[in-house]
Amino acid sequence: MGNTTGEDLAAKTVVFGITGGIAAYKAPLIVRGLTGAGIEVHAVMTDAARQFVTPITLQTVTGRPVHTEMFPAISPNAYEVEHIALADRADLFLIAPATANCIAKLAQGIADDLLSCTVLAGKAPVLVCPSMNVNMLSNKATQDNLDILRKRGVHILEPAVGELACGWEGAGRLPEPQRIVAEVERLLFQQDLEGVSVLITCGPTCEDIDPVRFITNRSTGKMGSALVEAACMRGAKVKVISGPVNIDYAPWAEVVMVRSAQQMLAAVKESLQYCDVLIMAAAVADYVPSVYRDAKIKKGDKLSSIALSSSADILSEIKPMKEERFYVGFAAETENLAASAKDKMTRKGLDMIVANRVEQAGSGFASDTNSGIIITPEGILDDFEQIEKESLAHKILDFIRERV
Ligand SMILES: Cc1cc2nc3c(=O)[nH]c(=O)nc-3n(C[C@H](O)[C@H](O)[C@H](O)COP(=O)(O)O)c2cc1C
Repeated sequence: MGNTTGEDLAAKTVVFGITGGIAAYKAPLIVRGLTGAGIEVHAVMTDAARQFVTPITLQTVTGRPVHTEMFPAISPNAYEVEHIALADRADLFLIAPATANCIAKLAQGIADDLLSCTVLAGKAPVLVCPSMNVNMLSNKATQDNLDILRKRGVHILEPAVGELACGWEGAGRLPEPQRIVAEVERLLFQQDLEGVSVLITCGPTCEDIDPVRFITNRSTGKMGSALVEAACMRGAKVKVISGPVNIDYAPWAEVVMVRSAQQMLAAVKESLQYCDVLIMAAAVADYVPSVYRDAKIKKGDKLSSIALSSSADILSEIKPMKEERFYVGFAAETENLAASAKDKMTRKGLDMIVANRVEQAGSGFASDTNSGIIITPEGILDDFEQIEKESLAHKILDFIRERV
């Protein structure tokens, strides 16, 4: 199995249909996002779309001729049947914004313009991004048409809710260009984790001393977040149990926010039965205050120490519930990396452990890169130096994929 990184997108082609909704003005920004990811974009515009954004703009940002006519007077490639050639070239069809009219035509198989004809002639996946007035969207005709498309396997990106250009409030806004680009990237990724449920813990835990003070650690959740994103991109069903972090997790993941080690343990136990793979990337507190004070400890209280107790050991608690699940742990070590990690893997009954060299610059907490080793009971699988957390996430998932 190949390692799937963003570089693979460079070989992909998106046929991008733009229809006559007011949000067509966002189309050039979507193109910039796609071409920025290395994707080749061929724009097809309906007549109505050209009332809102000009072909010259799309031509400039795609760097290619824009397709507008079913029967061009002079075809740029006279020897090609344009809608068939475009359809055959597509790895994905993206329609954004998709008008109510266009959705109705796709649902009924109408092929009366270049865009509808091209999509009908294609075999590639289709991503439709509806955008319209809230009442047009909730109209049973539009909803029935969207249902027909969903049942046929067409991907529908739900419209955002908010203030609409027409003056109404509600559902119908085209999602932001970055969100659409992310959805396209995901659909173009190799879906080798489809059907696999992955539970990932992320971030630190915070152990409260009183209402204003707490004990925590330096974890930012970056490694966990990279794993969440990579697993989602590869088609896994992902649930995240996260301590307090300043991160927007990938939009496809279900996220449960917790604060303490005890809460994380409860959330992991509750979710475990639904997962095939558990990745414990969170930095769970080892020690928690023995007593929580309901009132703020005052300066004048002359506090000289805080009594600590061992926190909930999540991995030990869930060891008996392992069954066929694949357990992955993380270890942050400053010395005897391999020996300490191997010992932890054995004690906790893990199938794999990723040990980080936290003392090294460009590794461990808050860093965008990581250095360390990946160990299984068979031995050391990989010794990596300063690789991006995103690449490391894919590497870890590659190893997991070979084993589940
Ligand atoms: C100012 C204006 C804004 C419009 N915005 C939308 C819209 O956001 N969504 C939509 O479905 N239709 C919208 N329409 C209606 C479409 O342009 C119309 O249904 C057209 O036939 C769509 O053609 P197409 O699907 O071939 O692009 C708008 C019309 C006007 C005049």
